[in-house]
Amino acid sequence: MKKKLKLKAPYMKVVKILGVLFVLIVAFFIFLTSEKNSLRKLGYSKKAISSIVSKWQIGKVKEIGENKTVNAAFESEYYQQKNLEIYEKVEYQKQKDIIKNINTLVKRGYSSKQISMILAHGNNEDVTLFAKRKKVKYLEQFFSISYAKLRNYDRYVSYYDKEREDDETTVLRVNMDFDKEDYTDYIEISNPSDTVLVNKHRMLTEDYVPKNLKEVKEEYIKFPDGKMELEQKTLSAFIVMMQAAEKDGKHILINSGYRSYKDQVEVQQEYLQAYGQNYVDNYVSKPGFSEHQTGFSIDVASRDTSIFVESDEYDWMMENAYLYGFILRYPKSKEEITGYKCEAWHYRYVGKEIAKYIHEHNITYDEYYMMFLDKD
Ligand code: DAL
Ligand code: ZN
Repeated sequence: MKKKLKLKAPYMKVVKILGVLFVLIVAFFIFLTSEKNSLRKLGYSKKAISSIVSKWQIGKVKEIGENKTVNAAFESEYYQQKNLEIYEKVEYQKQKDIIKNINTLVKRGYSSKQISMILAHGNNEDVTLFAKRKKVKYLEQFFSISYAKLRNYDRYVSYYDKEREDDETTVLRVNMDFDKEDYTDYIEISNPSDTVLVNKHRMLTEDYVPKNLKEVKEEYIKFPDGKMELEQKTLSAFIVMMQAAEKDGKHILINSGYRSYKDQVEVQQEYLQAYGQNYVDNYVSKPGFSEHQTGFSIDVASRDTSIFVESDEYDWMMENAYLYGFILRYPKSKEEITGYKCEAWHYRYVGKEIAKYIHEHNITYDEYYMMFLDKD
């Protein structure tokens, strides 16, 4: 007969306690796993979750719910418990030092709403620099405007002090470098997109040549004299526009299309000799600063009239060009903005959507670009 193993009473007690402990530990781990799972479902990262657990903040974070800034805070070595409510309210931006910068901005006395505003108007570097300075005045004044840039803050303040323009005009004009000398303080663009803005503060590099240049047939050129090229979408749009004009009895031709950097050097010299420096300053761009180097610009002409502004084609273009994706680039009423005297003949291809907006809102491409496209 087998003998049953029987423990003595005190040992039984220990075993029971160990059993209960074991069950409790298992239950705790099951509970923890399910809590971690629910945090994961709320979008928290593995790194953030382990920090949430170690800081005993599971309940609080579950209450907050999905929140990218809170996730970044728990991921960060700069997490500060006292700022958790601020992290919760600040709108997330993908910036390396977001949490470190939020902490500094809180110290400077900014509210969570103001911090969101600051983060939204610059990149990581801009915010880091801005956080170093004392709390500024006029924050909402400028940064409730969507296209205001954090790094231009001081320029907005001094432009405003000097010119007393309204806030929107101040921001727009400083973004357009109105506070800088033409041709002296500019950026160089080596890889322009279809929506590139070229003006007296934004130049193309000397070696830039558009990739999709197409030769313009002689029949579209007013005075054929050697090869003329245009960017291919621009040329196609021009042909559609020209044919539509023909149907209305208007005859539109091209005087100038793509011009290389070197071509512009020649144009400048030609005009300098013929009309003098003042004319060149008002009508001819310095090499690199001409929109013609993009391939998206055309100088149009009327087949039968030599002064374009007096032709029916001029009126037709003013009314209809936008329907084909072209805008008058240097209008009469906007000389102060474009920096050029009115050029009734110079059109820029920007595509139908942008052209429609510019036409309907009576703004320049410089303004449109700063309001909607500038990502610098
Ligand atoms: N005439 C225009 C401004 C140019 O030279 O590009
Ligand atoms: Zn032109």
